[in-house]
Amino acid sequence: MIGVFDSGIGGLTIVREILRKLPGYRIIYFGDTARTPYGTKSPETIISYAIQDAEFLLEYGAKIIVVACHSASSVATEALRERFPDVPIFEVVSPSVKKALAVTTKKIIGVIGTRATISSGIYQRKIAAIDPEVKVYGNACPLLVPLVEEGWLKKPETRRIVKKCLIPLKIRGIDTLVLGCTHYPLLKPVIQAKAGRRVRLVDPAEEVAIEVAEFLKANPRFEEKLSRGDEPLIYVSDLTEAFERVARLFMGRRITLLKADCEMS
Ligand code: SIN
Repeated sequence: MIGVFDSGIGGLTIVREILRKLPGYRIIYFGDTARTPYGTKSPETIISYAIQDAEFLLEYGAKIIVVACHSASSVATEALRERFPDVPIFEVVSPSVKKALAVTTKKIIGVIGTRATISSGIYQRKIAAIDPEVKVYGNACPLLVPLVEEGWLKKPETRRIVKKCLIPLKIRGIDTLVLGCTHYPLLKPVIQAKAGRRVRLVDPAEEVAIEVAEFLKANPRFEEKLSRGDEPLIYVSDLTEAFERVARLFMGRRITLLKADCEMS
């Protein structure tokens, strides 16, 4: 199975995209709804949660791991690769960097994300390692996560907050904007409207799905290990009606959530 984990339900945008690119592959998802959000937590806490999340997926038969959460991708990828050296681990930052560099013409890129993602400086480091001439500006927009979770995708309040989040990046003249949080793709129309038509949005869900598909094509050894099945298995560490409602929003259809039988500490 392809294992995907996230701090909560938002990573279902990535499950949806993987299913679109790789129909028929069985996916197992773990959303840590009991401890969400990760983006407000310290790197040490996020690393320890990410390791537990990956262990859960591997115990249930995952052969590769996709870290859907940007906060965990930004601070925990190295620790995960050290802990599970034989497991291919994908994260959402590298494919987004690749895409942002491919589409920017002015070489001025903006990134919005959680506090953990933005203060990690991961986008600046990864982009500078490839092209030191590119300017990267980040802005933490923590208010957008609860707005999406409440389904406030088009409300005037949401439009105002998105506009405010983008001002520091727009005045820098960005021509490319990375949606650096699992929740933001659901706000794409509002973000595009406020960023302006000329700004290219980079959706990490699409980019990581392409990377996984390319990896499986190039590595039949891993591809053969993956089981097939229609419905993804979606586990969460806490199950409420609100999570079920939000999951429908992220997947674009009704989906059954399963309560994970695990002790997360
Ligand atoms: C969060 O856990 O704070 C939101 C998800 C993300 O970082 O992508």
